[in-house]
Amino acid sequence: MKQTVWHNLKLCATGDARHTLDDAAIAVEGGRIAWLGAAPNLPAQYALWPREDLRGAWVTPGLVDCHTHLVYAGQRADEFAQRLAGASYEEIARQGGGIVSTVRATRAASEEALFAQSAARLEPLIAEGVTAVEIKSGYGLELDAERKMLRVARQLGERYPVTVRTTFLGAHALPPEFAGRADDYVEEVCDRMLPALADEGLVDAVDVFCERIGFTLAQSERVFEVAVRRNLPVKMHAEQLSNGGGAALAARYGALSSDHLEFLDEAGVAAMKAAGSVAVLLPGAYYFIRETQLPPLDLLRRYEVPIAISTDSNPGTSPVTSLLLMMNMATTLFRMTVPEVLLGVTRNAARAFGDAEHHGTLAAGRPADFAVWRVQSLAELAYWIGRPLCERVVRGGATVFQRSLTA
Ligand code: NIG
Ligand code: FE
Repeated sequence: MKQTVWHNLKLCATGDARHTLDDAAIAVEGGRIAWLGAAPNLPAQYALWPREDLRGAWVTPGLVDCHTHLVYAGQRADEFAQRLAGASYEEIARQGGGIVSTVRATRAASEEALFAQSAARLEPLIAEGVTAVEIKSGYGLELDAERKMLRVARQLGERYPVTVRTTFLGAHALPPEFAGRADDYVEEVCDRMLPALADEGLVDAVDVFCERIGFTLAQSERVFEVAVRRNLPVKMHAEQLSNGGGAALAARYGALSSDHLEFLDEAGVAAMKAAGSVAVLLPGAYYFIRETQLPPLDLLRRYEVPIAISTDSNPGTSPVTSLLLMMNMATTLFRMTVPEVLLGVTRNAARAFGDAEHHGTLAAGRPADFAVWRVQSLAELAYWIGRPLCERVVRGGATVFQRSLTA
């Protein structure tokens, strides 16, 4: 089994920037962390292992992007132009654009084309230290096309050095062939699509877009019932454009997270706290649709609801492939602190991701998945805009990404 001691590094093992070590070492054996701590305390048994010198760089857990729609075909720059001319996201959706236009492109794409286009969005995330990414379906909205999306998501996890968890989002929008028959479509989702895709092992969690232009509380609940019967964790796009009570409903189903949440009220926050749901905030979508309603940060803090930050990478509201940029936006737009945003892409994101056992925190016995940052202070991760800061990504103890420097 390969053994390595990574040394000459500054360590933020828990994702909590208030607890760090200035001169740390990490002993790795067979892809797992055997020991980590202050370098002078390195136990004698590791002293003769081969060494890797990180030259004073910072090490954090591999980042977790816990809410993405990064598998889709095409793009919606034309809609962006319409919005610049004054149309709102909701108006465009009601006129048959929006999600449904990406559905047309995704249905038409071959699996290979879908993989290639999606891989191009995954690569920049990996180059920024992301070692785990959640990927939703929801641009197929019929069994075969949803299957194609989820298969591509699985393949991305097999062919790239990143852990992928899939989320079935069949209840993302009403497909045109079901116009005026939303309940019939929900029945299709519940009775046919979700059972088939879950049986094929393609579904790790279930999401619903609960909104005026999405699905009602009652329809969302029908989907959650099926998920829970199959022991699949749920999550929800909730209170993004209006306050519909989705987060409280999701909490009743023990949701991993509720996401977006700009219009969340105190009752929703309290319900999330009671259920242990993570609040996933998506500053890219807030920014890109020029939302002005801020998510209720003070309430989330007061109730101590864990907060995660994610890209929401998607063609309509967040054409984003940088989690570091989301950290920056969460500080500037949402007034979150540096420790909050760092926890938001590590420990708290891993909870929302549904696997905090293996992701988001570094400790003995856990996978050696970490990011190496050429910065002097962790605050720089939220400070620089557009600067490549990640020098190396280590996954299972092996370097899977290294920035090549030429001078
Ligand atoms: O997270 N709100 C619903 N779903 C996506 C947007 C999808 C799209 O516009 O293509 C979101 O914002
Ligand atoms: Fe989303």
